Amino acid sequence: SSLEMFVEELPDMPRLEGYVLEHGKLKPTELRIGMFETKWKFHSALPPTTVFAYGASKETATVPGPTIEAIQGTSTFVRWENHLPSRHFLPWDPTLKTARAKHGGVPTVVHLHGGIHEPESDGNSQAWFTAGFNETGPAWKKPLYHYNNIQHPGNLWYHDHALGFTRANLLAGLIGAYVIRSPAVEKPLGLPSGPEYDRNLLIFDRSFATDGSIYMNSTGNNPSIHPQWQPEYFGDAIIVNGKAWPYLKVKRRKYRFRILNASNARFYRFALSNGLNMTHIGSDSTYIPMPVTAKQFLLGPSELADIVIDFTDSPTGEAILTNDAVYPYPSGDPVDHLNSKVMKFVIESKRGALSSHDESRIPEKLIEYRRPLKESAAHTRYITMYEYESASEEPTHLFFNGLPYDAPATETPRQGTSELWHVIDLTDDNHPLHIHLGLFVVLQQTELLKLDEFKACMQKQNDALRCNVEKHAKGKVMAAPVQERGWKNVFKIQPGYITTILVQFSFLDSHQPYPFNASTEPGYVYHCHILDHEDNEMMRPLKIRS
Ligand code: C2O
Ligand code: CU
Repeated sequence: SSLEMFVEELPDMPRLEGYVLEHGKLKPTELRIGMFETKWKFHSALPPTTVFAYGASKETATVPGPTIEAIQGTSTFVRWENHLPSRHFLPWDPTLKTARAKHGGVPTVVHLHGGIHEPESDGNSQAWFTAGFNETGPAWKKPLYHYNNIQHPGNLWYHDHALGFTRANLLAGLIGAYVIRSPAVEKPLGLPSGPEYDRNLLIFDRSFATDGSIYMNSTGNNPSIHPQWQPEYFGDAIIVNGKAWPYLKVKRRKYRFRILNASNARFYRFALSNGLNMTHIGSDSTYIPMPVTAKQFLLGPSELADIVIDFTDSPTGEAILTNDAVYPYPSGDPVDHLNSKVMKFVIESKRGALSSHDESRIPEKLIEYRRPLKESAAHTRYITMYEYESASEEPTHLFFNGLPYDAPATETPRQGTSELWHVIDLTDDNHPLHIHLGLFVVLQQTELLKLDEFKACMQKQNDALRCNVEKHAKGKVMAAPVQERGWKNVFKIQPGYITTILVQFSFLDSHQPYPFNASTEPGYVYHCHILDHEDNEMMRPLKIRS
């Protein structure tokens, strides 16, 4: 039996402002956000589900958590508190490298994804802590996190990042949106605004048992090696802002939707069932230079699309947001009647429409940020993705460059520089690569020819240059989708291709140093944002040199 679709109204998560206006000046306040075990109703026909939720209090905790509102240039301080019980309600796997709390408790640590801030506040996987800071990981520094909000207006999100627990902690509900606004820059754009017409959509997939509990397979695909670990989590219900297949009543006018794929492993290719356009205005981190109109688009885990939909001339009274991305992507199973639908927009009738008057617009030009020249890159790196398999050809773990997470850092960029990263995917899956601190632009993706020969060489030598990667990189060339040519912090790395990105380790518009010391311990990380991969070695340290 499955849940009826489109019967839950789309909620808006509570908003927390990280600032106050005092004598006409913006001042940071200190937010206190806890993690609580509580119950959440994903659907009225489903019994209440045990979740871990962020909130100012247990009573107000939600899944996803509150949306944090920040203003560019004004810091946000957050005191993250763990109020979780002694045991996790989801399976985790002690054979992975995991945070290990000797006295019980659920290890947690919060990462502000896309944020440019000091390492001590970055939520390093080893900076975990249990309830009441009873126990802390080796990289833990302090309880009060400082987010500078020095970057451009755009969309970030916060989520758990504890070593080996990330997939289970996010499945449990530890995610939330974070928006940086700049009224001076954004007002003149005239885009749809205000809580009714500018909405965050946090989308993830979950499976539920009939008693309402979140279902996560507790038997690994290689039980003799990893008793619990599975290479990818896929759920059959699609959840938006904490409700399964919700609906939203909309007027015949423009709406802005900041769409985040907060799934562990699922990719989505979104479209509207009545053929309406979706106009991209931003992606991860920032606005794009010009609006890009699309009928469909692909989002990997943790990617963001900032879009405007104009319902004014909708030919129908409703539009279903659909998904047709195979899973795992790009060579997995096709979607079915459940995971092919996301939510429904119920559009007001033409007759009533005269009353709703829309002054918002989609400007011809948005914001163009300076991009570094490829020639100015201070360093060129080759980063190779490998998947290792058991005798039964089931994945056992994944590595960057053949190195485990705890091997000493090999990526040590200097602050204020940009670097060219050639990312080579030798697995069969697309991996969303995420880099902390550094924002990047995608230059191109080039197919590797004679892939088997190249793989065989890499298996022996693990050295892209010695294996003549340039000679193999002669296949099909793909540019990033137009809407993804701006600044990104995560991008889909295509299997069998070499993807070249230009990563900047400084402010976007200048080579000014950061207003914090980026080279302190514990540094940063980069990783695959398929959380099941991240938890099983597909993460590496990133140390910034001053
Ligand atoms: Cu969204 Cu290191 O993560
Ligand atoms: Cu991956």
